[in-house]
Amino acid sequence: MTGRLNEKVAVITGAGNGIGRATALRFAEEGAAVVVADIQDDKAHETAEMVNEAGGRAQSIAVDVTSGADNDAMADLALEAFGGLDCLVTAAGISHANYVSGDIEPDIKNIVTSRADYLERPGWEFVEGDPDSFDKVLNVNLKGTLLGMQSCAAKMLESGTQGSIVTVASIAAKHPDAGPVAYTVSKAGVWMLTKKAARMLGPVGIRVNCIGPGFISTHMTAIIDLMDESETDAFNEMIPLGRRGEPIEIANAALFLCSEESSYFTGEILHPDGGFFTE
Ligand SMILES: NC(=O)c1ccc[n+]([C@@H]2O[C@H](COP(=O)([O-])OP(=O)(O)OC[C@H]3O[C@@H](n4cnc5c(N)ncnc54)[C@H](O)[C@@H]3O)[C@@H](O)[C@H]2O)c1
Repeated sequence: MTGRLNEKVAVITGAGNGIGRATALRFAEEGAAVVVADIQDDKAHETAEMVNEAGGRAQSIAVDVTSGADNDAMADLALEAFGGLDCLVTAAGISHANYVSGDIEPDIKNIVTSRADYLERPGWEFVEGDPDSFDKVLNVNLKGTLLGMQSCAAKMLESGTQGSIVTVASIAAKHPDAGPVAYTVSKAGVWMLTKKAARMLGPVGIRVNCIGPGFISTHMTAIIDLMDESETDAFNEMIPLGRRGEPIEIANAALFLCSEESSYFTGEILHPDGGFFTE
């Protein structure tokens, strides 16, 4: 531990699994006290226990990021438990409307539907896209990000804290093939939301940046492990580094963006993507 976040308090959404969990552990390792927020209460609790057992400081809270009240309670907890709020990382997200982190069945159904049903009917997958599913994904990924930013930025404004906010988009924010319709649109929205917030919060010294990961080994991409070996190889070959990333590699990018080392970064997007965007 080098103490890059000593005396800082960080709030992390989606911290019950994957990228959010890795970020909570990494931030605690660098001295931050962490509020671990997730809709999966048991998983959030588990992450907080992992942090505390490793000698860090964490408290968990059940948060549905689509609820303004939940986001407010999450920000309140940072002040009540740790006396401040310096950093927010918004890692909560879903890849499709029925996505449940850790449950592969809805992913399999989603992929099978889009592949088999529409292969013979080009164009119709777009036309028949379900508007309610679109709303659900936009609500969690985009509105959920906005609400977390608003609740946490309010605390920073009230205390005059020159904090750092890190949103999590995706390569799908810029590449239409990197996810379903609603997911790509939601992540493009997160990227614009980041730039907008950076402009509006810059004058008070709050920095707002974005991470746009490539394919990372979490529940969200577990379906890739079920593909034929040849398909997995073909998948890896389109990534110049030849592999999916690990959650810690995204946590390290978030650490940089929340530390003083990135003090002149705002409104920026970093792509830890193994070189995906070099094509
Ligand atoms: N894994 C990848 O390849 C990848 C690539 C680019 C971007 N991302 C983004 O990174 C973020 C983290 O994803 P991950 O890969 O760690 O997946 P994950 O499924 O492991 O983690 C996502 C977490 O978000 C939580 N969550 C879902 N809906 C929520 C809600 N309404 N309120 C609060 N928490 C909620 C889940 O319970 C889960 O713990 C997501 O925004 C995802 O879109 C992932």
